[in-house]
Amino acid sequence: MSNSKLEQLRLAKEKIAKGGGEDRIKKQHEKGKLTARERLNLLFDEGSFVEIDAFVEHRSTNFGMEKTKAPGEGVVSGYGTVNGRLVFSYAQDFTVIGGSLGEMHAAKITKAQDMALKMGAPLVGFNDSGGARIQEGVDALAGYGNIFYRNTIASGVIPQISVIMGPCAGGAVYSPALTDFIFMTDQTSMMFITGPEVIKTVTGENVTQEELGGAMTHNRISGVAHFISPTEQETIERIKILLSYLPSNNLEDAPVFDTGDNLNRLEEKLNEIIPDNPNKPYDMKEIIGSLADNGDFFEVQPYFAQNILTGFIRLNGKSVGVIASQPKVLAGCLDINASDKAARFIRTCDAFNIPLLTLVDVPGFLPGTDQEYGGIIRHGAKMLYAYSEATVPKVTVITRKAYGGAYIAMCSRHLNADLVLAWPTAEIAVMGPEGAANIIFKKEIEGAKDPAAMRGEKIKEYRDTVSNPYTAAARGYVDDVIEPSATRQRIISSFDMLASKRQSLPSKKHGNMPL
Ligand code: HXC
Repeated sequence: MSNSKLEQLRLAKEKIAKGGGEDRIKKQHEKGKLTARERLNLLFDEGSFVEIDAFVEHRSTNFGMEKTKAPGEGVVSGYGTVNGRLVFSYAQDFTVIGGSLGEMHAAKITKAQDMALKMGAPLVGFNDSGGARIQEGVDALAGYGNIFYRNTIASGVIPQISVIMGPCAGGAVYSPALTDFIFMTDQTSMMFITGPEVIKTVTGENVTQEELGGAMTHNRISGVAHFISPTEQETIERIKILLSYLPSNNLEDAPVFDTGDNLNRLEEKLNEIIPDNPNKPYDMKEIIGSLADNGDFFEVQPYFAQNILTGFIRLNGKSVGVIASQPKVLAGCLDINASDKAARFIRTCDAFNIPLLTLVDVPGFLPGTDQEYGGIIRHGAKMLYAYSEATVPKVTVITRKAYGGAYIAMCSRHLNADLVLAWPTAEIAVMGPEGAANIIFKKEIEGAKDPAAMRGEKIKEYRDTVSNPYTAAARGYVDDVIEPSATRQRIISSFDMLASKRQSLPSKKHGNMPL
């Protein structure tokens, strides 16, 4: 081969690697953002990233586009390894026509999607784009549609992770929304369907981009995003941690790690953690930390619907998805957002063969017109549905309250939990003793000389008779009442026993989950 051909190839690749050029890269850095290639370099094991489609070009001739050079078509795509495991990725390059998405830009992304699906490997998409390339019109829209379709087809087969590291507006937001997890970086990422200008024109509202669609907005208020980190570097580190809890596809199990933690570790402090006063909160995260290998809890959606906790731990080195009431927030009641958060997480774990551990201290569904008008009935039903259809091993531990419909919803035996364990402090009943006494002892309380004292007596009577784990254990709805200190041992041995669980559901096109 002549040297000139090699030289030509090298120069062409060098040019493409520079994206939009020094000035635009500088601008990108000044905004606190990395370039597409810098992001990919941080994600992949050193030297493992293999780029594909670097030479792809757009073929638009609208508005003088034939003269517009777009190195890499505004997106870098390829594959490599993350902690030794195959991962596909694409990263939109804002330095090239604002990372805008045209026909061929989309074709690069859909090729990466197709390859990831074929190879059964996770796909990580970095979004940093002005949206549909305006010059390309319907070709750009078609590109988005092709991406959304593939997101849906790959859903539940390979883990799909979206990383928002710049603008992501209009219909573009629907690709991330169709994926399993969304990461955002504080202050530099935003997602919205219509921006502040349009909102001002249509509704008269004044809102900044950050308030409308910034990272904290979507982590705390809308629940659209799952993670927020202060820098892009930290965001990428957290993506790697998340990947370590997930299998590469739905036919595999998550990787197992030697965590070095003691399987027989007793946690005496758990015998003391439930306060004597049933209305006093405690922090469920302390319990999760005591149970998990080395105390590590990788929380998912830590800012949204904090009345329920979701996230991953390892037990004997194996990934387990945790869903836990948080008595510190709204007394651990289930509401619309908590139901959505939990149902989504349960389905993610079930799709990817990750067993479920549910920790229950739930006084009920949250009362109120806001909740009823917002459709708590159909949102709460998602949890029942998600737990019922989940076929992964399901272990439930009732630490304190398990009242009414919420008792059923939190992975009770009746929704086909494989093992239900209760602490001696568990109170399993139709409702809390206070509410129950008001109803069934109404006449006695009203007719008493001292109604308050009588009410107190009746509350105690109800609690002593019904609010304990032994009635449920007598029916076999609770498999065992255990000492809290031995919970780690018991759940590890439970999941070991359940490792060979096989359960198939009736064959059907798909269920009709309440949405
Ligand atoms: C073509 C675009 C573009 C786009 C940005 N650029 N967005 N080119 N189509 N959608 C170009 C700019 O012209 C500019 O080119 C370069 O990218 C950088 O953009 P700037 O505006 O200089 O950057 P910045 O000031 O940081 O502002 C970023 C921005 C702004 C807020 C994203 O560019 C913007 O508002 N863009 C348009 C957003 C938009 O309305 N998109 C369509 C959304 S609707 P030069 O050559 O000057 O450097 C949509 C529908 C999808 O996406 C439907 C799917 C179903």
